[in-house]
Amino acid sequence: QKRIGILTSGGDCPGLNGVIRAVVNHATLTYGWEVVGIPYATEGLRSRTSIPLNCHGLDVRGIDPLLSMGGTILGTINRGNTLEESKDIVNSVHEMGLDALIAIGGDGSLGILRQLALEGKWNLVAIPKTIDNDVGVTERSVGFDTAINTVIDALNRLTYTASSHDRIMIVEVMGREAGHLALHSGIAGGADVILLPEIPYSAQEICHHLDELRDRWGRKFAIVVVAEGIQPEPSAPICASMDGSVTCGMGQYISDQINRLRDQPAEIRVSVLGHIQRGGMPSGLDRLIAASFGTTAVELVAQNRFDHMVTWQGGKVTVHPLEEVLSQSPRLVDPNDFLVRTARALGIYVGSNV
Ligand code: F6P
Repeated sequence: QKRIGILTSGGDCPGLNGVIRAVVNHATLTYGWEVVGIPYATEGLRSRTSIPLNCHGLDVRGIDPLLSMGGTILGTINRGNTLEESKDIVNSVHEMGLDALIAIGGDGSLGILRQLALEGKWNLVAIPKTIDNDVGVTERSVGFDTAINTVIDALNRLTYTASSHDRIMIVEVMGREAGHLALHSGIAGGADVILLPEIPYSAQEICHHLDELRDRWGRKFAIVVVAEGIQPEPSAPICASMDGSVTCGMGQYISDQINRLRDQPAEIRVSVLGHIQRGGMPSGLDRLIAASFGTTAVELVAQNRFDHMVTWQGGKVTVHPLEEVLSQSPRLVDPNDFLVRTARALGIYVGSNV
């Protein structure tokens, strides 16, 4: 008989509740363990708060809200706690009588929890989640696939209005310093330009590409996907929106650069998709990943295999030491990735590898 805790930490994403459901179902039905949720990650540990979860996902009437619910029923925080600020958390897991803790998080929060676990000698198993898909080793994190589909949906909508007005639509997507979300959704959503933090671009080349699309192929509109983490071009003058007095996103920056360089000002509109990308019902793939990760994490607890993270590689779940995962985080887009080559083969401008 075991008592295990589960928490969600860092920014939320669709699929977290699916992981909680999978952990609860497998731990309860297969092993008869008690599962408790720790609300608001380290805040719940600090206040030693736990919520019984064994009732969730086991509704005999067959209605299972967790499967399709976005967000996290446990709540989350993404304020970084240093080890120094977390001294009062170190003993929490033992004081709460937890035999193991399953933490669903991104590389930042998992790194902090690992430090705490090593210091407090807790039994920690990690599950990766993030729409940025930048956790090391794993090819997929919970939430990424749904976010791709959300961006694709937005690109589909924007394409029609762009084509009606002959406009350039610039769409800024999340991802922090990684371009996975921009690259995947840009290809799948029919972008003409995809700018990633990992690959240098030039506004001049973007304009040339847009001109060629128009003059050679008769395309009067264009879709430009900009990852939020791209940097201003070193050689480009900082435009008004970037002079420090106004904060603006990189989508607006690219719009200003295109306008600066083009002879006739283009009709450009900028959409910042923002936290819409973190919401919604989890996709089919995210549900499968959540189910596989959650059940495998329970297996790791059953095998007393701690300080590891479940990972997705080649379409299945593998397991890697958390230390290895963190040492390879954040996982960035490889400029020679086959998807980058695919984008170029499709005629999409994705910057120029150096
Ligand atoms: O890491 C996930 C993420 O959604 C990033 O893509 C984005 O930059 C950030 O979190 C936004 O965080 P917050 O919840 O603090 O607004």
